[in-house]
Amino acid sequence: MALRPYIVGNWKMNGTRATLPEARAIDRIAGRFPSVEVGITPPFTLLSAMVNDLSHVSVGGQNCHAEAAGAFTGEISAPMLVDAGAQFVLVGHSERRWKFGEGDSLARAKAEAGLAAGLGVILCVGEREEMRLAGRAVETVTAQLKASLPRVDGMVGHLSIGYEPVWAIGTGRVPTLADVSAMHRAIRTALIEVYGPAGARIRILYGGSVTSANAAELLGGDEVDGALVGGASLTAEAFAGIIMAAAARVEA
Ligand code: 13P
Repeated sequence: MALRPYIVGNWKMNGTRATLPEARAIDRIAGRFPSVEVGITPPFTLLSAMVNDLSHVSVGGQNCHAEAAGAFTGEISAPMLVDAGAQFVLVGHSERRWKFGEGDSLARAKAEAGLAAGLGVILCVGEREEMRLAGRAVETVTAQLKASLPRVDGMVGHLSIGYEPVWAIGTGRVPTLADVSAMHRAIRTALIEVYGPAGARIRILYGGSVTSANAAELLGGDEVDGALVGGASLTAEAFAGIIMAAAARVEA
C-alpha cells in the first residue's frame, strides 16, 4: 500500500449524544496508530460535538448541498460544514444516489463545492447487482466515475474515491478479492486519464460489508488504499480491528 491508508467510518443515520463515548474510544485507538488516517462521518447533529471531543480522528459530513447558501430547506452547505469544524465530506454515496435519486452531475457539483470550500472530498461510486451479474460492473463504475469527478484545478490532492458495490453495502456480501482489485485498477487508470500523474496519488477506498474479519484481505487488494466502513464503524470494538489491519499493512 503506497499511500497512507485512510479508514473512514460512515455512521449514516445512526448515533446520538449517548454514542459519543464510542467515538472517543475510536479516537483513542486512532491515536495509537498514527500511520493510518482515520475519519468518521457522523450525522450532522453530532458533528460539532465530535469535532470538540476527538483529536486523532478527522470528522466529516455525509453529504452537502452544491450551493453555498440559499433557500434550500433541510440542506447543509460545504462552507457550513467547514464552519462546524468538518475536514471532509462524502459525496455521491450510493444511498444518496439510489434512495434519494442523486445522479452523477449532482455528485460532481457537490464534490466541486466541497473542494472549493476547502474540504477533503470522498466521491463514492459503485455498481448495482444487475450490472455486476451482466458482467458490466467495471464499465458502469468507470462511466459513473468519469461523469462525477470534480474538475477543479489544483485540488486533486484533496480528493479520494470510495468504491462501494451497492449490493455489498450492509449485506455481509463482498466481491472476490480479484474483483475488488480489477475494479480498483480500472478506477486508477481512469483517474490518471482524467488528472494525469496526480491521479496516481488519489486514495481509492473499498466499502461494503468491511469487518475486522475481512479487512486485512480486502486492504491487500491492488490499488486499495483504505476502507469506507458502515456498520462495523459504530463501535470501537468492531472498528479497532479494521484500523489495526490497515496499520499492519503499512508495517508489512
Ligand atoms: P457497511 O459497511 O455497513 O456495508 O456500509 C458501507 C457503506 O455504505 C459505508 O459508506
